[in-house]
Amino acid sequence: MCGIFGYVSRDPRGASVVLEGLRFLEYRGYDSWGIAVVGDQEILSQKATGKIAGAHTDLPPSAVALGHTRWATHGGVTYANAHPHLGCGRRFALIHNGIVENHQALRLELRSDHVFSSQTDTEVLVHLLEEEIESASDLTKALLAVFRRVEGLSAVAVVDAYTSEVAVAKNGSPVALGWANDGVYLASDANALIEHTRRIAFLEDGQAAGLSSNGVRLFEARSGHELDLDWCEVTWDAQKAGLNGYAHFMDKEIHEQPRVVQEIAVEKQDRARDLASLISRARDVYLIGCGSAHHAALSGRYMLSEVAGRGSTCAVASEMSLVYPQLSPESLVIALSQSGETIDVLDAVKGARERGATVAALVNSEGSALDRLADLSILLNCGPERCVLATKSYTAQLAVLQLTAHALSFDVERGTDELRNAALRLQELLDRDSTRRVIDEVARRTGDHEHLFILGRHRNYPLALEAALKIKEVSYMHAEGFAAGELKHGVIALVTPGTPCFILAPDSDFRREALAAAAEVRARGAFTVGFSPEDNADFDITIKTTDFASAPYEIAGASQLLAYRLALLRGCDPDKPRNLAKSVTVR
Ligand code: G6P
Repeated sequence: MCGIFGYVSRDPRGASVVLEGLRFLEYRGYDSWGIAVVGDQEILSQKATGKIAGAHTDLPPSAVALGHTRWATHGGVTYANAHPHLGCGRRFALIHNGIVENHQALRLELRSDHVFSSQTDTEVLVHLLEEEIESASDLTKALLAVFRRVEGLSAVAVVDAYTSEVAVAKNGSPVALGWANDGVYLASDANALIEHTRRIAFLEDGQAAGLSSNGVRLFEARSGHELDLDWCEVTWDAQKAGLNGYAHFMDKEIHEQPRVVQEIAVEKQDRARDLASLISRARDVYLIGCGSAHHAALSGRYMLSEVAGRGSTCAVASEMSLVYPQLSPESLVIALSQSGETIDVLDAVKGARERGATVAALVNSEGSALDRLADLSILLNCGPERCVLATKSYTAQLAVLQLTAHALSFDVERGTDELRNAALRLQELLDRDSTRRVIDEVARRTGDHEHLFILGRHRNYPLALEAALKIKEVSYMHAEGFAAGELKHGVIALVTPGTPCFILAPDSDFRREALAAAAEVRARGAFTVGFSPEDNADFDITIKTTDFASAPYEIAGASQLLAYRLALLRGCDPDKPRNLAKSVTVR
């Protein structure tokens, strides 16, 4: 969702530094963008709808700049609605992530002479600031006065053309600060800062910071008291954030998965044991997530049950209300999230905490809200995931859960062996020329269809859900994954001659049922693609899988590649699908 990038220094490259920062944040999903710089006692700004990729900035040199990528919520995708918002004078420029829930009420509290120029919920904040600055001692104090009046989860940043200061306050949406030799930075994703510095501080909810050429000061929003800033050195690898010769991040990140699974196999044994120990001590266990992370959570439920005989519940994080009544201090909630900033996951985790539950997290973004909130946080360490679609973070979550299931049955080494083997199998699948040929053929033969169905039974059911999600997100085809046993309870009504149906039949368990489903859809003219170690008369095409423990990774890799090829074939942008955001930070 919306991205924020700011820069305060003595070096006048502000606008271009911020433009580059916004380019990095493109992956979050956005539909317009803008930058403000400090000119001669006034704000100068540049805004545009559409993509930032080939954009140049025509703003003059300035040492202080603030930029934003907007994902529209209130008001359409227009130049006027793009941030920054300048208020009535040209003294302030304000940008905002989140939603001002009480924007209409706040508007009524303003003096009557303010002129609005957008339909956003945000703009009211800059007009309020114009009033609050009259009685505040400085910019940060004025922003805090505004911030205390706002309902909803937000991050707000403002630049003052009179003082060349920037102030930022947050409640909900992420903000990281960076300390570098050439100045101080702020961004809605710390990964956007590592090109400039590894010295990072994360703003907590209810905190605000004032940035100037003299440094950074941190404040508690409610009381206004000054706090100590806690800078840390992050260890992420900046190299992993580049395209490294791939045309798209999606393709690159698909191909990183064998390495990611291999690293988890050897590096996460202890963490898996820690999680297994929490699971064995808990009375009840809940796995939660959104999107792909939810699908990984559902696979985890099958793994815990099959490998360790341990029952658990899986819930979509936004449906956590379903399990709240059962939570107690003896409950364990395992939250899965690539970004660690998904609002529904954070809400669910906070709700679980209020009921005394222990919280474990499987999270990729070090220092994210979830990472910091959890009692036990297992970092996936798969490097920045820049494509909006989850690929390597999903398989990383599967791998940690597989290891944990084996740790729970006191044989983590077996999990490591399985994952090492899975990493090799996945590498072979991705390397094989025949994979590319078969996937291209499947893409060609399915790409002009409206519907596509993926059938999986038992542990293959969540894999079917995830494969369908990948295809639908990136190619805009209607793809639906479902439990194969449900075929005759509805979906079969939509199967007509040529309808693509994928059948997940990677192992002997439930193979007979999977093949029966293939026969039933084929009898109605479906074009069938089997994900299976063997060909079958009821498969028009077979994508080869190997063994039981590697199949989840092979199915994930093959269906991601297929989704990627379908996106290219249908003229879609694989890295930035329409309307989607990488991390959904608003409700
Ligand atoms: C968005 C992304 C998905 C992701 C989901 C959960 O919908 O587009 O790719 O699976 O959020 O994100 P998280 O960061 O919590 O894993």
